[in-house]
Amino acid sequence: MGKKQMAFILGFLFLDGLLLCIATEVHYYDFVLKDANFTKMCSTKSMLTVNGSFPGPTIQARKGDTMFVNVINQGTYGVTIHWHGVKQPRNPWYDGPENITQCPIAAGSNFTYKVILSTEEGTLWWHAHSDWTRATVHGAIVILPARGKYYPFPKPYKEQTIILASWFKGDVMAIISNSIASGANPSIEDGYTINGEPGDFYGCSNETTYRLSVEYDKTYLLRIVNAGMNEDQFFGIANHSLTVVAQDAAYIKPINTSYIMITPGQTMDVLFTANQNPSNYYMAFSPFHDSVVTFANSTATAIVQYEGNYSIPSSPFFPPLPAYNDMDAAQNFTKRIKSLANKKYPVNVPKNITTRIFIAVSLNSLLCPNSSCDTESGDRTAASLNNVSFDTPQIDILEAYYGSLNNVFDRDFPSQPPFFFNFTGNVSNVSEYTAQGTKTRMIKYGEAVEIVYQGTNLGSASSHPMHIHGFSFYLVGTGTGNFDNVTHPLTYNLVDPPKVNTFNLIKNGWATIRFVANNPGVWFMHCHFDRHATWGMDTVLIVKNGSTAKTSMLPRPVYMPPCS
Ligand code: C2O
Ligand code: CU
Repeated sequence: MGKKQMAFILGFLFLDGLLLCIATEVHYYDFVLKDANFTKMCSTKSMLTVNGSFPGPTIQARKGDTMFVNVINQGTYGVTIHWHGVKQPRNPWYDGPENITQCPIAAGSNFTYKVILSTEEGTLWWHAHSDWTRATVHGAIVILPARGKYYPFPKPYKEQTIILASWFKGDVMAIISNSIASGANPSIEDGYTINGEPGDFYGCSNETTYRLSVEYDKTYLLRIVNAGMNEDQFFGIANHSLTVVAQDAAYIKPINTSYIMITPGQTMDVLFTANQNPSNYYMAFSPFHDSVVTFANSTATAIVQYEGNYSIPSSPFFPPLPAYNDMDAAQNFTKRIKSLANKKYPVNVPKNITTRIFIAVSLNSLLCPNSSCDTESGDRTAASLNNVSFDTPQIDILEAYYGSLNNVFDRDFPSQPPFFFNFTGNVSNVSEYTAQGTKTRMIKYGEAVEIVYQGTNLGSASSHPMHIHGFSFYLVGTGTGNFDNVTHPLTYNLVDPPKVNTFNLIKNGWATIRFVANNPGVWFMHCHFDRHATWGMDTVLIVKNGSTAKTSMLPRPVYMPPCS
C-alpha cells in the first residue's frame, strides 16, 4: 500500500487586525501503477490498478490541505491521473487530462502531482484520464472539515466510501481501441460493482459480495462515487431512508429520499441510520438509461448486515429502485438538490454576466472513407459541442499555450452553434455529420461566465453528465426542450442553486451554469460518459492570467512528462 506521511505548515492570515493561525497539512502518497489479476463474474483478467487494488486507495485530507501523489508507472503504457473536482487554483500543471494539461507518464517513469485543495469539503475522487484506463484506475478523495471545524450535520458514527463502477470482462484498452479502429460502438459493460464486487445477482459472485456491518441505531455516512464509465445509476438501501447532505464536495440542504440518481463523475454524501429490525438488507444500484442504445441492464448489490443475533433471511430485503427508463424519478430527485446556503456556507451566484456561451451538445457521425466503418451506415459514430468534434492533439494544450507553440490548437471554439434549428424536435432535415477540430474557448480572467447547454435530438439522443475541470459552478436552471432566452432565465435559481463540478444535462433538455473565471489555466470540459468523450464531446476553456502574479498561473514545474 502507499506510504503516507504528514507534515504541518502554519499559515498566517491577517484579517482586520486579527491574527488567525490556520494549520494546513501536507500529505504524501505513492501510487504504483501495475497490472494485477482479478476474477469477477466467472472470468479472470489482468488489468492496470493503483497499488494492486480495485477500487484504488482512498486518499484523505482536510479542507485546504495539499497532497503530493507520486505516480510510479510500472505498467506497459503511458497514463495520467486526474483529481476530479479539485479546483487546483492556478495549478493546471497537475490537473491530469492526457494531452490537455500534460503528456502521459510513460511506462517505467514517474511523476509527482501536487494536488492543492481549497474550498472543497466532502467527497471527490481521482481517476486515470487516458483513454479508458479509468475503468480500473480510480479511487476516492475524502476531504474532512478543517481542523477544529465540523460537519453541518450530527457527526456520523462511522463513514464508508462506496464506489460504483463498471466491469468489463475484457481488456478495456482493447475494447476502446477496437472501437476507434472500426468506428463502431464499444462493447458494453458486463456488469457493475460496489467497492469492487458485483454482488449476488451476477454469476460466481456470492462469496465475495461487499458487506457493510452496522450497529443498531447508529448513523453512517456513505461517500458515494459513481466511477462508472457510461451509465447513470439509481442507488438505494432496502427499508432505509437516505439523507443526502453533500454533492461534489459542497454541502446541500439535506434531502430525505428512498433512492438517489447519480451520474458518472458525481459524488454524493449520504447519511442513513440503522434503525430497522436487525437483519440483512441489500444496498443496490442499477442504471438510469434514457436512450435507445443498448446497455448493461443489471444490478450490483452489497449487503448491509446488522451486528448481533438474529436469524439471517435466506434472501435479504431488496430496495425498490425506479425502472431504468423512469426519467421522472431521475428528475424528481435531481431537482431537489439545493445548496445549503446559510451564513456559514454562503452562496455567491454571479448576477452580472459578462461572458455568455451557448453550447449545442450532440451525437453525430463522421464520414469513413468508402463507408468503411463497422456500423449500419458505414459512418463513424461521433459527438460534438457546437458542431466541433474534439480532436485530441499530440502535444498537450497547456504546454503549447504556455510555450506559445503554434499549430497545436485553435482559439476559436464558437460561442454559439453554427446554426439554430429545432434542437430537440424533429431533426430529420438536419445533417448528422460534424467536423473535427481542436478548438478552445479563451476567457479573460475574472469574467462572470454563463454557459447554456442545449441537448439535441441528433443521433441517439440521451442525457449527458457534463463536467468542467478547474471549477465548481452553480447549476442555476434546467428544463426540457429548447432553451428560451426570454422565459427560461426567469426560472433561474440564484438563491441556493447546487454548486457542482458535474451535472446531468437531461435528454433533449437544457441547463444553465454560472461561475467566475477566477482560476487561470487550461481546463478540460467534457461529457463524463466515456463513450461520448471519446467520440469528441469535449472542449477546453483557457482562462487567461489576470494582471498580478496572484491572479496568474503558477510557473511551469521543472519536470513535466515529455510528449513523445
Ligand atoms: Cu472525471 Cu475530465 O474527468
Ligand atoms: Cu454525453
